[in-house]
Amino acid sequence: MNTETTKHLQQMMKNETARSKVLAITSGKGGVGKTNIASNLSICFAANNKKVLLFDADLGLGNVDVVINADSNYNLTHVLSGYKELEDIVTVAPGGVEVICGGSGVEELANISPFQLQRLLDGFETLQDNSDMIVIDTGAGIHNSTISFCQAADHVLVVTTPEPASMTDAYAMIKVLASRKYTGRISLVVNMAASQAEGKRIYRQISHVATRFLNTQIFEAGIICKTEKLVASVRKRHPVVLNYPKSRITADFVSMAARLTKAPVKRNEHESFFRKVVNLFL
Ligand SMILES: Nc1ncnc2c1ncn2[C@@H]1O[C@H](COP(=O)(O)OP(=O)(O)OP(=O)(O)O)[C@@H](O)[C@H]1O
Ligand SMILES: [Mg+2]
Repeated sequence: MNTETTKHLQQMMKNETARSKVLAITSGKGGVGKTNIASNLSICFAANNKKVLLFDADLGLGNVDVVINADSNYNLTHVLSGYKELEDIVTVAPGGVEVICGGSGVEELANISPFQLQRLLDGFETLQDNSDMIVIDTGAGIHNSTISFCQAADHVLVVTTPEPASMTDAYAMIKVLASRKYTGRISLVVNMAASQAEGKRIYRQISHVATRFLNTQIFEAGIICKTEKLVASVRKRHPVVLNYPKSRITADFVSMAARLTKAPVKRNEHESFFRKVVNLFL
């Protein structure tokens, strides 16, 4: 093989393997369990020897650090103000998950100088190249920033509960993604279900309507039942999969993580995730 062919193959392999799979977790309605799902799934991915970066992109109201118990004194705002380097704000949370808090920094991206932006994007690209998975906890609701994070991700996990308002809002979120011609995979999590059967029924309802009216396929990520164990774990700042490793909810998170790891995602664009977000933002 000549050098040019080798280089070409190396580049192709790099394009295929170097970029992390990016999973954005979102919902229409707030308070449906996104942050707990993002944190517990991240811990499951990390337990499977994956290097996971959990990014708190819930501007203003972010609380990943509280749920996963990460020590986060700094966020993206400190990087943008030149006070910290990007790598200094990465903290390692229980379970080995690396956490970055966006704070209000993500919104400030629109106003920074091209030089600052390039420096930040280079830092993010290094982080992305060094991770196997990036999990984004987005804010609730149909805001531009949330949609940008989802549009840039390979896979969007929409969270709903059995509550009708939450289902309607989850559907509205799927509708926005469909109208923006999102090409990645969309999966649904039904959280706080009374039973697996109830959760599956809700999944079928939403996926049926999305296929029929939006021509969009919605995959089933899994069902998480309502349990006091999760509430108690939040209170203790100890993620439920670590607090109750032998419980049913942990088994459900493990099988959801396994299913998501195996899900095929299209990655025909080789631009880094954060560059895509910024391009969608500006
Ligand atoms: N499976 C569950 N069983 C019982 N309670 C749950 C479950 N999932 C979430 N909750 C409750 O919902 C609360 C909110 O969860 P979480 O913070 O993960 O939601 P969120 O969607 O991230 O909220 P926000 O939209 O404000 O960011 C938890 O503190 C807990 O009390
Ligand atoms: Mg949250």
